[in-house]
Amino acid sequence: MSFKTIFEPFRIKMVEPIAVTTPEERIHFLKQAHFNPFLLHSEHVMIDMLTDSGTSAMSAQQWGAMITGDESYAGARSWHKMESEIRDLTGFEYVLPTHQGRAGERILYQVLGGPGKIFISNTHFDTTRANIEYAGATAIDIPVPEAANTCFEYPFKGNIDTLKLEQLIEKHGPENIGAVILTVTNNSGGGQPVSMKNAMDVKAICSKHSVLFLLDSCRVAENAYFIKHREQEFKDFTYREIASAMFRLTDGTVMSAKKDALVNTGGFIALKDENLAIKCRDLLIITEGFSTYGGLAGRDMEAIAVGLREVFDPSYLHYRIKSTAYLGDHLNQAGVPVMLPVGGHAVYVDAKKLYPHIPPHEYPGQTLVCELYLKGGIRAVEIGSLMFGKYDEQGKLIPAAMELVRLAIPRRVYTQSHIEYVIEVFQEIMKDRHQTKGFKILKETKFLRHFTARLEPLKQEPVLAV
Ligand code: F0G
Repeated sequence: MSFKTIFEPFRIKMVEPIAVTTPEERIHFLKQAHFNPFLLHSEHVMIDMLTDSGTSAMSAQQWGAMITGDESYAGARSWHKMESEIRDLTGFEYVLPTHQGRAGERILYQVLGGPGKIFISNTHFDTTRANIEYAGATAIDIPVPEAANTCFEYPFKGNIDTLKLEQLIEKHGPENIGAVILTVTNNSGGGQPVSMKNAMDVKAICSKHSVLFLLDSCRVAENAYFIKHREQEFKDFTYREIASAMFRLTDGTVMSAKKDALVNTGGFIALKDENLAIKCRDLLIITEGFSTYGGLAGRDMEAIAVGLREVFDPSYLHYRIKSTAYLGDHLNQAGVPVMLPVGGHAVYVDAKKLYPHIPPHEYPGQTLVCELYLKGGIRAVEIGSLMFGKYDEQGKLIPAAMELVRLAIPRRVYTQSHIEYVIEVFQEIMKDRHQTKGFKILKETKFLRHFTARLEPLKQEPVLAV
């Protein structure tokens, strides 16, 4: 027997009040934040869908383990727990703790990268790309062509284009490839899963050319859910077995534990190769901390060790993926152009289709993000030309490939009625979408400008799409 209602497989033991704001208050708060929700105070947000990163509710088991945290500088018991959990899951001998994912990226891509090096990915996440580029190397994204069509129902839109991968390796020479990075699930490409078949093909290509193959594994459990249910050969595997098998195809991984390890902070690098691990460890000690804690407290490491087990619980993963799909499917039914099929941790709205009259240089994604806040106190994030746009030599915007808005769902935090509310707010947004105006940037930085950019709404009347 199966029921339609999504059953949250937990009950609430501790609550955090949400302050309810009025539309007038929200106009004021958004102006103060220069129309950039990253600059809002979180207590002025009612439903925070900015990120699923570090926003999970921890379980009683995790909180309990935290009390037992060993805060020794070197060789802490909590470290050994975390290390052995990661070794068991990934099969990698060398584990380095970091305070979050990007700290691992900075270390690893500084060691592997530098001028002349090329990194190839299904899609580099923004901090991944920034760390690679900051060290002087080039990051190239080659998602499969199916990923570009936001309404095309393809089961593994997160896959990397293996044909292009082979061509790029041959073009640049294997010795110049820093690494091939498979991001699972493909966050910036819509939270879409990567199939095991695709990972196996990448492994074969990388082995043939002796190129390093890495996994950006922060949502590896969610990815495993999709593999079990969409890739016939894996239907009898457990989620953990699937994730383990995927790690074992690669040479190493960087994980932001803030996602699928169900914790508020943490991360790690895990590697097969000792020499590479030694180089990374040197950098780790200089900037993160000694190699048995990285930037973490003993209690954080306890919570990670427990979270990495809990996340593979079948009822949790079922609820997680089904509740995300519930939001996506209902928005789709309300006429909102969402990326289909819905991914694991978030629903992505195609703002280019929602606001056909707003061109990329007027940031349709940011427009939707501001509308969500003004109408409903909901905070989301633009993943489009504000985040990924570049300028050409004449200073003209080279837009991102897509203008998406991500509604990321924190793990185990919101209930069904919060989600129903989000659907209602979208229904309001749909009513006056043709009158909604775009934005211009007033102030920005060179790297990761979306975090701090200041914007202003455009005053002129929009040109309606024909
Ligand atoms: N890789 C991916 C695929 C990510 O989604 C993130 C973070 C990172 C690396 C970096 O990890 O934040 O711990 O330093 N993503 C967050 C997000 C920020 O909102 O999607 P971090």
